[in-house]
Amino acid sequence: MDTHKKLVLGIFGFGVVGEGLYKVLHQTPSLNATIKKVCIKHPNKKRDAPADLFTVNKEILLNDNEINIIVELIDDADAAYEIVKTAFANGKSVVSANKKMIAEHLPELLELSQEAEKSFLYEAACCASIPVIRNLEEYYDNDLLHSINAVVNGSTNYILTKMFEEKLSFKDALIQAQQLGFAESNPTLDVEGFDALNKWTFLLTHSYGILPKKEEIVFTGIQNITSEDALQADKKDCVTKLVASAKKLKNGKVAAFVLPQFVKKDDPLAFVKDEYNGVVIESSFADKQFFYGKGAGSFPTASAVLSDISALRYDYKYEYKKLYHQQQNELTNDFYVRTYVAFTDWGHVRKDDFESIEEWHSNDRSNYLIGIIHFEKLRESDWWKKNGVSLILIADPIIESLDVAKLKKRSLELAGVAGKYSLS
Ligand code: HSE
Repeated sequence: MDTHKKLVLGIFGFGVVGEGLYKVLHQTPSLNATIKKVCIKHPNKKRDAPADLFTVNKEILLNDNEINIIVELIDDADAAYEIVKTAFANGKSVVSANKKMIAEHLPELLELSQEAEKSFLYEAACCASIPVIRNLEEYYDNDLLHSINAVVNGSTNYILTKMFEEKLSFKDALIQAQQLGFAESNPTLDVEGFDALNKWTFLLTHSYGILPKKEEIVFTGIQNITSEDALQADKKDCVTKLVASAKKLKNGKVAAFVLPQFVKKDDPLAFVKDEYNGVVIESSFADKQFFYGKGAGSFPTASAVLSDISALRYDYKYEYKKLYHQQQNELTNDFYVRTYVAFTDWGHVRKDDFESIEEWHSNDRSNYLIGIIHFEKLRESDWWKKNGVSLILIADPIIESLDVAKLKKRSLELAGVAGKYSLS
């Protein structure tokens, strides 16, 4: 193995991650990597690096035969896709942190990198400093993975922590997340769950060999979560987290979604605070394993990019064994979830969507119910995402099959309690 292979880098982007990488590379001289050029968008911005390192002309990097690795760290997913396509066509390996680009173009990117026989690595794109993709590729390269539950977005986790533990307002917590370099330049991507969804699509590829389209996965963010929800979570001995989940069901199909959840206080994910991310993997024989680390920010993200660059000394490639060599898995929405739904107006809740309503509370401060709903109902509708409604799954939410007779009886009992709300 040639561990002294010279790595000549062309870097796109000098933002939070790009600048972090620049500094980190200077502290790891043993890597034998040099940055030949950095392509940036705004030439007049003041940067803490020699001016002749920068260019605004992407062709200079893409057509330089000495550059063997393109490190793509820009914000714009469409521009990134064009850069990466050309990089492969020009025989270069690519390291990227662009979640959105990968979520939108993974099948094409796989084809292009394979045609070019070049590596395409993106550990930094999910859970930043946690080596989750490499673990799924190398350690869980078999068929024994039962479930994977994860906090994959640092900004929303930071906001929830600050709101509920330090009583900051949503707005102030978001501003802090932005100032610390955790949030996307359009923070709606974080807050409304798009960023977590993007990450989850390709983690599903590495976990279960599925190449899902974003539209196939039910998701939302933390935009409607209130302090009243946190209070209810606490009463149930839980904390509220935005959790990306996937589980192989008894029928062999995979349930996957990104939704807020009441997580039990003794669940490892409950310990994931601030911008940290966490991943709990359950497999047949190893039982549960928990990976934990910083999920956003300059150096933690740069460290994952550095590790990918380092792996290119020996031309490391993801093999996608589950996608190519094992029986492919299929997504399903044919299961039920137990969920809490808080609402300002009962009219906003489509009560007929529920198989049963197990609890019902209404007073001056809060209105909420706990019920069981078929997952397809969530995919088909969006009443539960609207303003004034917050849907939060209850810990261990998946129910694979229901005893309908029992549920009917329980719902009828509750109908008496909630009759004035025409609950039946
Ligand atoms: N905005 C992202 C987050 C950055 O908060 O997780 C890291 O992907």
